[in-house]
Amino acid sequence: MKIDYSGKSVVVTGAGGVIGRASAILFAQLGASVVASDMNEESLRETAQSILKEGGSVESIVADVTDADEAAGIVKFACSKFGRLDVLFNNAGGSLPTPMERIDREQFHRIRSLNFDAVYHASMEALPVMVSNGGGVILSTTSGAGSGAVNGLAVYGAAKAGVNSLMRSIAVEYGQRGIRANAIAPSAASPGMVDWVKSRPGGLEGYLSKQPMGRLGTPEDVASVAVFLASEFAGFVNGVVLPVDGGIEAMFAVPS
Ligand SMILES: NC(=O)c1ccc[n+]([C@@H]2O[C@H](COP(=O)([O-])OP(=O)(O)OC[C@H]3O[C@@H](n4cnc5c(N)ncnc54)[C@H](O)[C@@H]3O)[C@@H](O)[C@H]2O)c1
Repeated sequence: MKIDYSGKSVVVTGAGGVIGRASAILFAQLGASVVASDMNEESLRETAQSILKEGGSVESIVADVTDADEAAGIVKFACSKFGRLDVLFNNAGGSLPTPMERIDREQFHRIRSLNFDAVYHASMEALPVMVSNGGGVILSTTSGAGSGAVNGLAVYGAAKAGVNSLMRSIAVEYGQRGIRANAIAPSAASPGMVDWVKSRPGGLEGYLSKQPMGRLGTPEDVASVAVFLASEFAGFVNGVVLPVDGGIEAMFAVPS
């Protein structure tokens, strides 16, 4: 058996970003009809071009997922283009680290709506479509910050914890209707995270010396887990939050 997404339609949000792009490309390489979405038109176009250059199938939609209608509209777009929806990968997200006391209400709403509300609205649009198809898979990119506190990521972490809970609820409430839902929790898995790592006590060297595998993650580390979790190879994996962090979450952090 090989992972094969031929005939399947896969939505990836945040597809202009590093993890979304690596995932959209990999799904397409495995035969999926990909719907790539992002609010950044230029980076979205680059993702689509990479897929098309390799002969893959992709339709793109620019959407701001913090708007409930636009988030739901991505699912409607996928159904109108491909007539079905097999996988929804809620991946758009992010936050700049900010001390809790400096997060005002406007930032609170923005971080929450990007990292939690958007996942809820797109998933709620996708679920009835998947139920009527006889099944489907919902994946969401969460974060280690959704499981343990990280300085400067209070609202982001709370939103990602909400995503973990939402994926578990979908897993439990929709499992008998053929739907699986799981979350993927990367640690620093992109070049953009290097600055954040460098800004932490001990810098990059200190971080890597304590990283169980001694390296940062990559977008491809996350993408390969996404295609596995959405596939039949993970057909009995439902409601998990899977760390893709080289072992960070396995460590018990002792103050030193
Ligand atoms: N990179 C990491 O190390 C890491 C670690 C933990 C979790 N994550 C999570 O992984 C996911 C992908 O992150 P990434 O590292 O690829 O970041 P990225 O910044 O490269 O990509 C995020 C993408 O989301 C898009 N986006 C932002 N706001 C949007 C909105 N309102 N509507 C639509 N699109 C929007 C951006 O344009 C961007 O293309 C995020 O959910 C992030 O929280 C990443």
